[in-house]
Amino acid sequence: MTAAALTPLPTKQHPFGPHDPQARLGQTLSSQMPAIVRGDRDWHDDDGVLFVGHYGLRTNLECIQESSLDSRLRCIPDPNHSLKSHSNAFPSQTAQNRYSIDQNRHIIRSSRMAGTVMSGNLEQFLTELSRGLDKTMVSVNKEMTLRTRIQRTWSMRQCARFLNVSVIYLQKFAKQSDDFPEGEYVGRERVFTIAELMHMRALLAANAKRPYDYLAWRKPDDPLPVISFASQKGGTAKSLSAAHFAQYLSLHHGMRVGVMDADPQSTATLYFVGGEGLPAMPTEDTPSMVDFAGLFANEDAPYTDYSAEELDQFFLQTQWPGIRIVPAHGETSEGEIQIARLVSERPKGKTFYRYLRDAVERWRDHHIPSTTPSELVVDGLVDRAKLESALTETLDCIIIDYQPALTLFQLNNVIASTSLVIPQTMKGFDIATLSTFVNGLLGMLQQILKNERIDIGSGANMLLPTIVQRTNNQDLNQISNLLEHCPAEVLPVFYLRSDSISNASDVYQSAYEYQADTPGKRKGIDRFVENADAVNDAIVSRIWPGLERGYAEQWMDDFYQDDEEDA
Ligand SMILES: Nc1ncnc2c1ncn2[C@@H]1O[C@H](COP(=O)(O)OP(=O)(O)OP(=O)(O)O)[C@@H](O)[C@H]1O
Ligand SMILES: [Mg+2]
Repeated sequence: MTAAALTPLPTKQHPFGPHDPQARLGQTLSSQMPAIVRGDRDWHDDDGVLFVGHYGLRTNLECIQESSLDSRLRCIPDPNHSLKSHSNAFPSQTAQNRYSIDQNRHIIRSSRMAGTVMSGNLEQFLTELSRGLDKTMVSVNKEMTLRTRIQRTWSMRQCARFLNVSVIYLQKFAKQSDDFPEGEYVGRERVFTIAELMHMRALLAANAKRPYDYLAWRKPDDPLPVISFASQKGGTAKSLSAAHFAQYLSLHHGMRVGVMDADPQSTATLYFVGGEGLPAMPTEDTPSMVDFAGLFANEDAPYTDYSAEELDQFFLQTQWPGIRIVPAHGETSEGEIQIARLVSERPKGKTFYRYLRDAVERWRDHHIPSTTPSELVVDGLVDRAKLESALTETLDCIIIDYQPALTLFQLNNVIASTSLVIPQTMKGFDIATLSTFVNGLLGMLQQILKNERIDIGSGANMLLPTIVQRTNNQDLNQISNLLEHCPAEVLPVFYLRSDSISNASDVYQSAYEYQADTPGKRKGIDRFVENADAVNDAIVSRIWPGLERGYAEQWMDDFYQDDEEDA
């Protein structure tokens, strides 16, 4: 059934009145929680407090379980977060692209003058900044809407690599198959789009002894991996790793991937906006994970158990065939408030950490794979309608991108996940932050496991070192120390720091989408893609053993050999 044929989703109900997050947050805080003035990350566990949330929510898990929200759960809005979200989500260079360099210089010069007359209190400062950011967002959004995503094409050689066949085999196959995609000639080279690559997969699968080699789709009895990219620290490449992993699974394995953006900063959403289901950035009315988890009240109940069909509609089509997204926006932060409310109301039959897990399981149990990769071709031609519907009939995995925090909402994500990938930078203080996150999460899980026998994260879990400076001894020391002490938990393949990635993010693209326009940029981004392929292959080898392509092994050989040469 297509999404259009389904009944429209019920309108979101906002129990806190006007659709203004600050107003609602204020009401919630004053009605339910004693507010204390306290910084988001400023916390300690001397009185049994286990964590601090995105809004500075801090709570003792035990006390939640027995008596729900009480005076020990205190909450303040965290103004730093919304500022950070804007600056992180929309790098300033990109907004500046709208202007010529001269115009930019003029604006910068004028603003230096304006800076000398600025005055007022924090509220005025924030009001002005917020107004300016709104205007900047309008222009950024316009840029994004006007642009079509994935203009990128790939050569026959590159397609052969994605398909894991030799280029000679693919060329021969192309000649023999009437329905092989036309592609387009750029100079003397024949290039193909992402949709044409999926078409090739269907053709190859129909002719193969092992059709699943070309479309690594889930079989009816296979589990549904739910893979979380989480860490409490900000800026550790969670979103980059999550988005690149999703795209890698599509490019290299033809998988159908559901991306869930759990971060109000919407970084993962930015990677995927531009498709049929999400042509422009989501508004506050676009259903997000908070809706998917059923956290809003309805007329009859304090939360909403959406049907599997309704849940499926929350996954919006991107321009990547088979990749769908549950996007995020500023309102996604309301998940925390809603869970706090539900913790307080304690509705029967639902524990506060199971909202997302229950929803995912309900969706999963009604979206069992039925089409097999070998039945997409009839009389030598790809049945396009069948391929289209197979690409949306189910998902082969779900990937969740977290906000940098450990909150009740994030805890719901962890409980829903089968695998946790912790992207983590390797600077001096970073290991201490990591330890805080790991111990905090461990404490929460142990509390839950005391009360309920529940299988949590029984897939592969791993720490992924990120933004590693290969010339920095401290970074490499940290990794080798970690690998020595946790050889099974830490990936020996990691993301190296690369200046090239900023060229791609300037145009809101991943390294996989980005087509460099100069040889220098091309070399840089190709190197990053090689690195990303290796990291993603390493993650694949742990989650789907046997599906790996050898990119991780190859990268390690090169990396450690280069290192020996450098030494
Ligand atoms: N390997 C890398 N080399 C250089 N820069 C990188 C690399 N990986 C990520 N970055 C940059 O680091 C910044 C943070 O990346 P990203 O948004 O993925 O992190 P995050 O952990 O999701 O952040 P947040 O905690 O805010 O959600 C981005 O500007 C990104 O382009
Ligand atoms: Mg992020």
